[in-house]
Amino acid sequence: RALVAPAAKRPRFTRAFAAAGDPREVLEKAVASALGAAFGPEYNDPSKAALRPATKKTFGDFQCNAAMAIAKPLKKNPREVATELVERLEADATVQNTLATPLEVAGPGFVNMRLSDDYLSTTVEAMATEENCGLPKASQKQTIVVDYSSPNIAKEMHVGHLRSTIIGDALANCLELRGHDVIRQNHVGDWGTQFGMLLEHLGDNTDASISDLVAFYKEAKQRFDSDGDFKERARERVVSLQKGDAATLDAWRKLCDVSRVEFDAIYDRLSVCGLEEKGESFYNDRLSNVVEELESSGVAEVSDGALVVFDEKDKKKEKVPLIIRKSDGGFLYATTDLAAVDYRSKELKANRVLYVTDAGQSGHFKAVFQAAQRSQELGDMSLEHVPFGLVQGEDGKKFATRSGETVRLKDLLDEAESRCLTELQERDSDAEDLTELAKVVGIGAVKYADLSLNRESNYKFSYEKMLSLSGNTAPYMLYGYARINGIRRKAQEEVGVGKVVLKEDAERDLARHLALLSATIVDLERELRPNALCDYLFELAQIFNRFYESCPVLKAESDDIRASRATLCAATAAALRLGLEEVLGIGLVDRL
Ligand code: ARG
Repeated sequence: RALVAPAAKRPRFTRAFAAAGDPREVLEKAVASALGAAFGPEYNDPSKAALRPATKKTFGDFQCNAAMAIAKPLKKNPREVATELVERLEADATVQNTLATPLEVAGPGFVNMRLSDDYLSTTVEAMATEENCGLPKASQKQTIVVDYSSPNIAKEMHVGHLRSTIIGDALANCLELRGHDVIRQNHVGDWGTQFGMLLEHLGDNTDASISDLVAFYKEAKQRFDSDGDFKERARERVVSLQKGDAATLDAWRKLCDVSRVEFDAIYDRLSVCGLEEKGESFYNDRLSNVVEELESSGVAEVSDGALVVFDEKDKKKEKVPLIIRKSDGGFLYATTDLAAVDYRSKELKANRVLYVTDAGQSGHFKAVFQAAQRSQELGDMSLEHVPFGLVQGEDGKKFATRSGETVRLKDLLDEAESRCLTELQERDSDAEDLTELAKVVGIGAVKYADLSLNRESNYKFSYEKMLSLSGNTAPYMLYGYARINGIRRKAQEEVGVGKVVLKEDAERDLARHLALLSATIVDLERELRPNALCDYLFELAQIFNRFYESCPVLKAESDDIRASRATLCAATAAALRLGLEEVLGIGLVDRL
């Protein structure tokens, strides 16, 4: 009895049906072209289609609000605009294939749209049988850098880095599924003045234990703060490091290696892979060039001996500027980030760069992006900060151990796993491999808890909540998946898949929600909010339960209905797997 279903056993059948599309995308295009034909080419723009999910089930599935917005410049009555739009839409073959007609104009000029049963059936059939639920690829393939995780050498990787790792990884997965070239970069803090004291301390104590790098860092810092002579030597050591002195570089590498072992152990447990280390040191040789460019273009100026960039809007230069070179000639965090922008644009030819860090760095990124835009040729490359809130204890205070120390990530993951094991034992599960199971569910719980909240809110860390079997949690979702996949497997074995027929309300509700999967993933690609996908999946599990309560699958009245319902089960299992495993990075289990 395998714990996690091997790939071969997961729902995936031979191609037999049409591809699943994204109904929202199809309709946006149709609305745009109808508006263009009716009112002029400037209205042929899918972003003007103003297509929203219907606010009530009785209104259908989507509502198009475009008429209200464009009636004004056209000096027309919105209902007139809507009526004209409806006439053109009804004559469009794609619309006829997608929507139930006639369409309805409601209120001041809304167009209510209801997906046709035929369309829903075909979509569900495709979802049940196609690779990755038939999720369409983005129409334009981009090169996207996701800068995430990014802990610092010789320092503890903390809960902020954990959030960055979990959120960044999910975003990168989503973008990859959409067909983009994704470069996952770990912008590790492996360079800078702090290495002077660390290397000097290491040189003085060749046998000093660096296995506990955090203690080592503290000792070095203590000496740096209290011993003037040591401080001076540390300064000189930074200079040798930057000049590339061989012995200094050797010692530096040794420190990095020790930290890397610790980081990798965490990535391993989180099943994060493909994350490529491009630390701050990588940009060392590029710093002076970038600084020169900033200076010669006049974007940067000297102020109190330092080279700085003022906010463009801050005409009176009252606010603290972005410092890119200190008065002693040293470069900073921001300098490295500007060099990284340059590298990502010129060498990687990225179209989009995402920076997944805590919201505390918003000011930094705003200033860096502005300086980059003013001094460099960025072309169409967009720079986006993806901020997240603080991790807090359940009391809303700083997340810490009982004695007030920072929590080590290793301990945090250990505790999630061991609490999960206790829960499973108490539930008196008959599974033999509870320890293995607890690992998957415990780690999944930590990840899902983070992903299911609005990332910008502060996040109250609670083992109890994340491990609860009820609510929008990993255990609930994993249990739901295991159960639905079990039903799916049995149904498949007995009846396979077949044509989907939607007779009961509960069947149509499920099909409709399934058809919204691709729009949910497209939104994630754009808005970078994994919690919306979690909400979608949570709702899917609940809608499935209502379906399963009222619509027997194996005991259905006819072979056709059995096959149709088996297909609904297969599509649901496939959608849950795609969302949980492929996008959110949550390991699945066969039973719970
Ligand atoms: N090392 C930084 C920290 O621990 C995060 C780096 C984020 N990425 C960047 N390009 N600045 O806060």
